[in-house]
Amino acid sequence: MWVIDSKVLSEVKANLISAKVYLREVILFNISIIIILLFLIEDVSIVISLSSLIILFSFILLNLIGKKRNAELNEIKRIISGIRENLFASREDIRLSENLQSLEEEIKRMFEKTKADIDYLQKLERIRTEFIANVSHELRTPIFAIQGYIETLLSGAINDENVNKNFLEKANSHTVNLSNLLNDLIDISMIESGEMRMSYRYFRINEYLETLVHELMPIAAEKNIEMIYHPVRDNLQLFGDKNKLRQVLINLILNAIKYTEEGKVEVMIEEEAKFGRIIIRDTGIGIPEEDLSRIFERFYRVDKARSRSVGGTGLGLAIVKHIVEAHSSKVEVKSKIGEGSEFSFRLKK
Ligand SMILES: Nc1ncnc2c1ncn2[C@@H]1O[C@H](COP(=O)(O)OP(=O)(O)O)[C@@H](O)[C@H]1O
Ligand SMILES: [Mg+2]
Repeated sequence: MWVIDSKVLSEVKANLISAKVYLREVILFNISIIIILLFLIEDVSIVISLSSLIILFSFILLNLIGKKRNAELNEIKRIISGIRENLFASREDIRLSENLQSLEEEIKRMFEKTKADIDYLQKLERIRTEFIANVSHELRTPIFAIQGYIETLLSGAINDENVNKNFLEKANSHTVNLSNLLNDLIDISMIESGEMRMSYRYFRINEYLETLVHELMPIAAEKNIEMIYHPVRDNLQLFGDKNKLRQVLINLILNAIKYTEEGKVEVMIEEEAKFGRIIIRDTGIGIPEEDLSRIFERFYRVDKARSRSVGGTGLGLAIVKHIVEAHSSKVEVKSKIGEGSEFSFRLKK
């Protein structure tokens, strides 16, 4: 019996604490009523009885209000701790009673925001882990190869005139790959951490592209690939960061050369009303339709072995995409297997 009493008592206490916010109003109301009663009724004992009744009634009322308030608070607490403990899969699982409908919508919104934030963080974490795994894997290939050649040389091959130079050349080409990879990694981490400082200017695109294409011509010539630059009017100025665009164009032109066995690489500009569209077109191996949407991902290559053998890191197009997007533009690709590829992007006039 005592146990129940103490339970009831503690519930009443909790209810009253919860109703405390209305205490001032109730006391004021009681005092006013008692004063009015004192004026209206002369018999003090009746006033005392009536007042006691009113106070008792107020007390019961406060208890009921507190009880209701507590129930609502508990309902809200239950939902919030449910969100914290990830008990809800979707917004539909969150339900509050009728009189808390407006709050329900707010809580649902908060739930969605929190869920989106957590999903985003988890995605970032996944990307980071994947990136580290990829980097380690990419580093391992050239390092193992270099180690292998050096060990073979040390264990005697160095005196074998037939292979020693060849092994050194191979080891050297892997160090070149390694250094390309490190450079690309530095670039991509600068870009992705937001440290890439852009410096936009108007510049004469014709002169700029002509010089660049001429610089890269010997590389194409080595593979017997014809490299053609189609000039545009000399006074056409486009808006962009010359240095960063150089990186974009070198990547795109070198890709065109690397992934072309025979034929030509053409560089041109199509002048539009408000833009200049820079186009790099090749007659190379082409890119399968299903890979087109993925080639801009970090480390994505259609043919890993082929890319590596031509010194690719799989980061080039990811860097290109970032820089072009920093110019509020977008790289477009068209490609047909066995016929060639065309990469292009617009710059503001
Ligand atoms: N001009 C092109 N012709 C055919 N395939 C291309 C061309 N440019 C890019 N690719 C494909 O896209 C992949 C990603 O390119 P990129 O990011 O520059 O990496 P990589 O270092 O391998 O060149 C390449 O591995 C290649 O499979
Ligand atoms: Mg490349």
